Amino acid sequence: MGSIKIAPSVLSADMANLKGELDKIAGADYVHFDVMDGHFTGNLTFGVDILKAVKRSTDVPVDAHLMVSNPDETVDWYADAGADMITVHYEASTHLHRTLTYLQQRGVKAGVVLNPATPVCVLESIIDVVDMVLLMSVNPGFGGQSFIPGTIAKLHELKAMCERHGVSPMIEVDGGISSKNIAEVVKAGANVLVAGSAVFKSEDPAAEVTLLQKLGNEAAQEA
Ligand code: DX5
Ligand code: ZN
Repeated sequence: MGSIKIAPSVLSADMANLKGELDKIAGADYVHFDVMDGHFTGNLTFGVDILKAVKRSTDVPVDAHLMVSNPDETVDWYADAGADMITVHYEASTHLHRTLTYLQQRGVKAGVVLNPATPVCVLESIIDVVDMVLLMSVNPGFGGQSFIPGTIAKLHELKAMCERHGVSPMIEVDGGISSKNIAEVVKAGANVLVAGSAVFKSEDPAAEVTLLQKLGNEAAQEA
């Protein structure tokens, strides 16, 4: 197994056949679970009961991306439901340090997410604590959007900040990732790649996961 992880987003899966869709991505590294509350994001997806159903249906660890307005008050719901990793938005979290360290004490990997308009410099005082940084490469809300090119410069900045601090959290990128751009994103420093429509809208999601892992790991070796 290589160092690059692929996290298919079930946002783009056929929810009428969740178990079948999860079976297709049994070779993935994470299941990316997009929680949207219709408030932080202009879309509403799924919550705790569906997360429990996902956990019952797959052995692949779950990466829960909370696009909700009140993560400080609700992270326990997702930890109780079995999320292996939980990321909360910087823009939505008033007590980010407390929320992330609390999750870690619970044995859950904890990460912070930045929207495209939020600069990397806001991480300066939290970078030593996080297990993961997730850079959004689209504005949160929907699958199938185009990758925002400015994400590449943010990845370079984030890598430099990690080096200055002597830390190496996982670096995840979410939105508009496909076999066409994964190499560029990995070379800029990402090692966990979310892919929703690229995986679930393809004819063969299992093969697409394998392809993304292969292209990602090749790019990591060249970087
Ligand atoms: C967007 C979500 C993403 C989405 C990515 O708000 O956070 O995880 O599912 O979908 P694609 O890969 O289609 O851009
Ligand atoms: Zn996401």
